[in-house]
Amino acid sequence: MKNFTSVADVADVKALIKSGLSLKQNPYAHKSLGQNKTIGLLFFNSSLRTRMSTQKAAANLGMDVMVMNVTQDSWQIEMEDGVVMNGGTAEHIREAAAVLGTYCEILGVRSFPSLKDREKDYQDHIIRAFMQHAGVPIVSLESATLHPLQSLADMITITELKQVARPKVVMTWAPHVRALPQAVPNSFAQWMPHIDADFTIVQPKGFELNEEFSNGAQIMHDQEAAFEGADFIYVKNWSSYQNYGEIGTDQSWVVNQDKLKNTNAAKVMHCLPVRRNVVIADDVLDSDSSLVIQQAGNRVYSAQAVLKAILEH
Ligand code: CP
Repeated sequence: MKNFTSVADVADVKALIKSGLSLKQNPYAHKSLGQNKTIGLLFFNSSLRTRMSTQKAAANLGMDVMVMNVTQDSWQIEMEDGVVMNGGTAEHIREAAAVLGTYCEILGVRSFPSLKDREKDYQDHIIRAFMQHAGVPIVSLESATLHPLQSLADMITITELKQVARPKVVMTWAPHVRALPQAVPNSFAQWMPHIDADFTIVQPKGFELNEEFSNGAQIMHDQEAAFEGADFIYVKNWSSYQNYGEIGTDQSWVVNQDKLKNTNAAKVMHCLPVRRNVVIADDVLDSDSSLVIQQAGNRVYSAQAVLKAILEH
């Protein structure tokens, strides 16, 4: 694998899932693979899971890790070409990315969308600029539009824990108090057709995802009907793609234990962080229905499978 920015970078998704599950059983089997190699993790936005799990994954492969909170610790970076840099930005992405590429064999980049300018956000210009100028493989740690390390962990979790060969998986929109990106649901929808599952997305009208990602999923607007017989329910808020960045707060979409009654004893997933009793109720998160901790734990093996594939390239 050369880069990892979307499912399109993966030649064989099922083999990558299998690799993640195998690494979970034997995390230190490839401890010498990353010896004398460095990964740089660049965060333009906050993180708990992605930051720690990717560090752990790299360490399991014997890599050295450098982490930078770019917007706090570094020079303010200019992303536009051809500008006269006589304002607040002190360093151009062309130099910054190229220099970091001389220090690291792999770079990971996290950069969220503005949620103000849809066209610009969906160009994913920060991660693309690193791909253009760094000269080393780039791993998305969540871009403006996609979060493939999360989705691979989700695929590993479903594959690991499914009780039937072809489970029913429902991704449901849930309310929130802030405008959140569409990256996680876009990405989940993009990966789901690559595993054996019946996949439904349920959301209020006006919260349809970009069809480029949701294409192929069954789309519903009635949460109760969608949950019937579900084996896995993936809960996530996202702001509107149509009315770009609009927040949805409809409390009737909060996922609680009562809503699971007509499922097939569904297991509930969420990428975390989750706002309790805003998105998912305590009675789900604190019950055996919740998979959120196991799911987050699998972030290590998702990242490790990806780094291993890049190191072996
Ligand atoms: N799910 C996820 O990416 O978590 P963090 O934002 O904490 O990294």
